[in-house]
Amino acid sequence: MGLVAVLGTGLLAWIEALTRDRIAAQERRVMLEQLHQVLPARDYDNALHEDVLLLNDPQFFRHREPVRVYRARRQGEPVAVVMGVTAPDGYNGDIRMLVGIRRDGTLSGVRVTAHRETPGLGDPIERERSDWVLDFDGRSLGNPPPGRWAVQRDGGDFEQFTGATITPRAVVEAVQRALDYHATHAGALYRPAPATEAGQ
Ligand SMILES: Cc1cc2nc3c(=O)[nH]c(=O)nc-3n(C[C@H](O)[C@H](O)[C@H](O)COP(=O)(O)O)c2cc1C
Repeated sequence: MGLVAVLGTGLLAWIEALTRDRIAAQERRVMLEQLHQVLPARDYDNALHEDVLLLNDPQFFRHREPVRVYRARRQGEPVAVVMGVTAPDGYNGDIRMLVGIRRDGTLSGVRVTAHRETPGLGDPIERERSDWVLDFDGRSLGNPPPGRWAVQRDGGDFEQFTGATITPRAVVEAVQRALDYHATHAGALYRPAPATEAGQ
C-alpha cells in the first residue's frame, strides 16, 4: 500500500515536471514566432528570448509596466532590439506591440500582439486584418521627418482608418516613443547582461 502511494506520488511529480517543460517549450516557441515577425531569425545568432533587459520608465513610455527589450546580436555584436511596448491610449485602453529596431535606427518590423479595439473600426492594426502595420517597415526617426510621425488627420504621414483615428494614432505614437528611446539610450540598450560579460 505504502509502496503504491510512493510510486503514485513519484509518477505524478514526473508527469507534472514533464508538463511544465512542455508548456515552457510551447511558450518559448510562440514568443519566438512573434519575435520573428518583426526581426528575421537569420539576422542574429544569440538566444534572443533570453537576452532580455527590463526598462522601468513609466513616465517616458506612458505605461506602468516595464518595457521588455530583447537584444539581438551576431557574433557578439549588437544588431537590433525588439521592444515590447504598450500604447496606453487605444480607444479601449492598452495596445501591446513588438517593435523591432535595427542598430542603425531603422524599423525591422512592428506587430500588434494584443488589443481590445473595436472589430471593424480599430482592428486593421492587426497584420491579419490589413497591411497597415507594414507601413512602418524600414522607417526611422528621420523617415518621415519630425512632425510627420503622426496620422494624416494630425498632419502626419500615416493613414488612419475610416471613422477610427484614435487607434492608429496610439500605435504611431508608441512606435515613435520606442524609436526615440532607442536613439537616446542605444549604448545602455545593447550593454551585455552581467552573466554574458562573465562569459556564460
Ligand atoms: C462603439 C464605438 C466604437 C469605436 N471604436 C473605435 C476604435 O476601436 N478605434 C477608433 O480609433 N475609434 C473608434 N471609435 C470612433 C472614435 O470614437 C472616434 O470618433 C474616432 O476615432 C475619431 O476618428 P475620426 O477623427 O476619423 O472620426 C468608436 C466609436 C464608437 C461609437
